[in-house]
Amino acid sequence: MKAIVVVDNKWGIGKNNDLLFKLPKDLAMYKSKTMGNVCVMGANTYESLPKVPLKGRINVVFDHLAQVHENAQTVDTLQSLLDTLKKFDTEKVFVIGGASIYKLLIDFCDEAYVTKVDADGDATVFFPNLDQKENWVLDELGEPIEDNGYSIRFCTYKKK
Ligand SMILES: NC(=O)c1ccc[n+]([C@@H]2O[C@H](COP(=O)([O-])OP(=O)(O)OC[C@H]3O[C@@H](n4cnc5c(N)ncnc54)[C@H](OP(=O)(O)O)[C@@H]3O)[C@@H](O)[C@H]2O)c1
Repeated sequence: MKAIVVVDNKWGIGKNNDLLFKLPKDLAMYKSKTMGNVCVMGANTYESLPKVPLKGRINVVFDHLAQVHENAQTVDTLQSLLDTLKKFDTEKVFVIGGASIYKLLIDFCDEAYVTKVDADGDATVFFPNLDQKENWVLDELGEPIEDNGYSIRFCTYKKK
């Protein structure tokens, strides 16, 4: 299982149930990695998507209240999520947020695609800081590229 996320300089990922930045190049990379695969997300993230479900992907939504989410499979406990994911090749499962779901599932992931934005987005919700997590290592640090006025780097972290 892999995590995929965009973070600012402080590992911030969102505020007001929205993303911090609009990044078309990052979105293209995100689509290419996740297309055809399984995307696991929290109910807040699902509701924040501009269009639901994420097209061409199996949408699995984590929701304590087990509310029905259009064109998605809902799971309401960690155990039911793990049971649901048994049907899929773990290489094809992406944890796509938000903060509570990353926190819950990061220890089940073996790789994380982290887009680093060189900015402070004044976030209120955060991704676990993988530079401070002893069992994670930065495997690839992409060159800085410009995306909608921001300097971003595509990075990969791996669990040791
Ligand atoms: N930068 C990025 O790459 C990125 C990606 C995705 C999302 N985001 C941002 O992250 C923010 C949303 O994050 P969030 O933490 O507020 O919401 P979230 O993780 O998207 O969703 C939280 C939902 O998951 C449920 N949940 C949490 N733990 C659970 C568990 N153990 N079992 C069952 N259900 C559980 C919660 O239920 P309860 O409320 O009942 O606890 C709640 O319904 C937004 O700002 C969004 O834009 C950023």
